[in-house]
Amino acid sequence: MSFSRRTPSRPNLSRRGFLGLVGATGAAAALASCGLGGVAGQTADLLPSRAPLPKPFRVPLPIPPVKRPTRSDGTTDYYEIVQQAGVAEILPGLRTPILGYDGIFPGPTLVTRSGRRTVVRHRNELPVPVAVHLHGGHTPADSDGYPTDLLLPVKGWKPPAHQGHGGSSMLGRVTKGERDYVYPMRQRAATLWYHDHRMDFTGPQVYRGLAGFHLVHDDEEAALPLPEGDRDIPLMICDRSFEADGAFRYPSLDRTLQSTPGVLADYMEGILGDVILVNGAPWPELEVEAARYRFRILNASNARRYRLALTPAPNEGPGFVQVGADGGLLERPVEHDAIEIAPAERFDVVVDFSAYKPGTEVTLTNGLGGGQTSQVMRFRVTRKVKDDSRVPDRLSRIERLDPAKAVRTREWHFRRGAPQGDPSGIGGSNVHWTINNKDFDPKRMDAAPKLGQIEIWRFISDLHHPVHIHLDPFQVIKRGGGAPGVYDAGWKDTVDVRPAEYVDVAVRFTDYRGAYMLHCHNLEHEDMAMMAAYETV
Ligand code: C2O
Ligand code: CU
Ligand code: CU
Repeated sequence: MSFSRRTPSRPNLSRRGFLGLVGATGAAAALASCGLGGVAGQTADLLPSRAPLPKPFRVPLPIPPVKRPTRSDGTTDYYEIVQQAGVAEILPGLRTPILGYDGIFPGPTLVTRSGRRTVVRHRNELPVPVAVHLHGGHTPADSDGYPTDLLLPVKGWKPPAHQGHGGSSMLGRVTKGERDYVYPMRQRAATLWYHDHRMDFTGPQVYRGLAGFHLVHDDEEAALPLPEGDRDIPLMICDRSFEADGAFRYPSLDRTLQSTPGVLADYMEGILGDVILVNGAPWPELEVEAARYRFRILNASNARRYRLALTPAPNEGPGFVQVGADGGLLERPVEHDAIEIAPAERFDVVVDFSAYKPGTEVTLTNGLGGGQTSQVMRFRVTRKVKDDSRVPDRLSRIERLDPAKAVRTREWHFRRGAPQGDPSGIGGSNVHWTINNKDFDPKRMDAAPKLGQIEIWRFISDLHHPVHIHLDPFQVIKRGGGAPGVYDAGWKDTVDVRPAEYVDVAVRFTDYRGAYMLHCHNLEHEDMAMMAAYETV
């Protein structure tokens, strides 16, 4: 199958020339945020669907099924997930082949208790290697889904001659068929998610469906009067494009995902779909009672950023009361009329629909979209009910990582790579993104932070780069030289670094020694080498 190539909004060479200037000019932020690919607020390019787009608000919001353990003992819950090909009806009347955990998209939701060991046996019945990463998990290195720790297909797999960025050092701890991922779950209640992390192919494999929620609960959270049960709902938001036959449209150089990594050069900045899915359904609708709901919002898009708001806004009070971030409950709730969310970030919010009259239709809109992507889903308020839930003024106690106690500052520069070799810019090492001017090499450790010590990590960017650190969460202490932004509260594991900006975070690794990574969570950037490894010692 071939893809028609979109005419670039400007020739590649002048883009590169322009980018060379970005770090140096004061006007860079304004220019870059207009988007080199022409989409405001995004570092990515729109890939239009070839199938007719469905009408919004025609399908109910699906809730991914909660996975039951196959057995439990005094300390541990055991789960089994089979990664397999499946078919979903996402656009009405069309069949979309997916790669799915248990063959579904999103995958089943795992729900575990803080402190209870969770062992997930993954069996790979897909035709491609995988690596499973629990995003936000405080996980020993050998279960963290390091991108070269491949779980090969049950039916076997031969590494092709061309192996992407890592060359012959591509293979790590490789297992065939099935393996256990062990999660001690020594961490607080939080909204985590699991997704594929295969070296060079994370973008297309997540795009085809390999993503699911993993919720961790604890006693502190359970004691709060927040909405719960049917009124505690995970929302996985992501964008996709579709071929005329209903297949996901993605501009891979190798559609079989066997050997050549990367995407067509026009899409190396990232891929924006024109259909917005929530929990796998296009622009769904949810009936809600006039009561408080807790929504665990995850941006599982490859590259798209959103600015979420409620339209109409409530007559009084804020649209959203944020109660949690990537790493769990905030100390105190934060009110927002809109929420800006970059790929992989989570916002745990409470929406009070009693501020609306029964019968009102409330749209979750996206201020960073255009046309149909400026809508996400719709809530229909049904009736007044009794509601005992509330949002207390104090949610949790959060230990502050004191920057004055930091033992060092490390700088991490996130930049587009300089052209190497092939001037056409298609394929090969020319299409890449760098950290500290280097492509990812799974064998090279770029830092050796000591367990228990606080460090300041400074992320410096040319364009939009949602930066994620594995193993332990961090706290944002500075943005652009000033105070943290309104979306930076609490424990974070992914931070939205915007064009020509720097963000300082305080991080402290604990418990587990080994190789971990930090990377850009724009999955096209990640696949095109924007990762770095560090070894905790
Ligand atoms: Cu969600 Cu290393 O990734
Ligand atoms: Cu992660
Ligand atoms: Cu990036």
